[in-house]
Amino acid sequence: MNTYEKRAEWVRDYFKKVKPEPKLISYYKGKNILVTGGAGAIGSNLIIALSDLVGEKGKVVVLDNLSSIKIKNSWNITPLSNILFVEGDIRSDVDLKRIFKEDIDLVFHLAAFFANQNSVDYTELSAEVDVIGMIRLLEYSRLAKIERFIYASSGCAIYGSYAKMPLQEDFVSMHLTTPYQINKMTGEMYCNFFAHHYDMKAVNCRFFNSYGPGEVPGQYRNVIPNFIYWSMKGKPLPITGTGSETRDFTYVLDLVQGLVKAGYYKEAVGENFNLAAGKEISIIDMANLVKKITGSGAPFLYKPRRKWDTKPRLLASIKKAKKLIGYEPIVKFEDGFMKNIEWFQDNWDLIEKLADFTPGMSSAVRNGK
Ligand SMILES: NC(=O)c1ccc[n+]([C@@H]2O[C@H](COP(=O)([O-])OP(=O)(O)OC[C@H]3O[C@@H](n4cnc5c(N)ncnc54)[C@H](O)[C@@H]3O)[C@@H](O)[C@H]2O)c1
Repeated sequence: MNTYEKRAEWVRDYFKKVKPEPKLISYYKGKNILVTGGAGAIGSNLIIALSDLVGEKGKVVVLDNLSSIKIKNSWNITPLSNILFVEGDIRSDVDLKRIFKEDIDLVFHLAAFFANQNSVDYTELSAEVDVIGMIRLLEYSRLAKIERFIYASSGCAIYGSYAKMPLQEDFVSMHLTTPYQINKMTGEMYCNFFAHHYDMKAVNCRFFNSYGPGEVPGQYRNVIPNFIYWSMKGKPLPITGTGSETRDFTYVLDLVQGLVKAGYYKEAVGENFNLAAGKEISIIDMANLVKKITGSGAPFLYKPRRKWDTKPRLLASIKKAKKLIGYEPIVKFEDGFMKNIEWFQDNWDLIEKLADFTPGMSSAVRNGK
């Protein structure tokens, strides 16, 4: 079995366990779905699930400018016959015109300038993509009279640093610490504007720290792929802070489940809700697990927290998503983690080539600011 077949099988096995209701399955059949950012960590999993759901009479159109990885390459897109990949930019009228010729029914908007540190380093560019690009996409979606617009928002963007745990949807902080967080919150507000003014059926899904197959490590990427990468290379793991900080690490297919349900259940329309595991794991526990599984004996390297990283804990309440759309995360951290490692092993040569830790680019690498 090649790595594409394996990934597709992982998604299919997952959905066999989730057992979506028959009405959801028939709803998606034959639809034409746009996934922006479909070559990315989460999108590359979502498109497999959607490809199965829409079947031969539908299609999944991926719009991605491949900016997330060092070498522009669509390798993360599983070659399935009903997936159409368009290399293009959400800011480009030319690309959007091309895409919306495909008679799009639903839009899953996952493209983003990822993430916190990157947005500190490239503030204007992050706003161009995450705000201006998103407005342009919303405009085209509105003109195309799509059925629903599902937005990948972020839990770290909405609740600030000092909210009560578990984080509940009705609390909003205006004290955000990075342009990425500001942009992501702005994205939700634009969804709400299009919903109020144009009756667009929009859904804001607030993800918490994703991990799993599909995410290439890099200086601007999440901690789990980076720790796996460094451990597999026998390098020390840099811990920014004390290691007692926690995150609500969520297996990527649990997020995909939430998205698929958000695209179907009418109760999701006009709503915002968390999609997370609903469990807290400390950075040190996660780092010890990485070392154990990879057999790395390299030490931890303690560094000061980055200036914007003011969240000692992250734990989401997932009650609202459970109630509205029957969201139910099913993957235990250890199990999802093992899949993540397997994916790294299967794709190691490519991951080594694509992992981007070019010295001097990230101010986090330079001086911790
Ligand atoms: N990964 C997480 O832990 C997490 C947490 C909260 C929210 N989110 C949100 O979920 C979404 C997906 O996250 P991900 O981890 O898959 O990110 P990712 O960076 O892996 O994927 C985003 C994709 O968007 C593409 N892209 C960037 N700019 C673009 C542009 N101008 N036009 C077209 N494509 C463009 C990139 O090439 C990339 O493939 C993002 O919107 C992110 O903000 C992710």
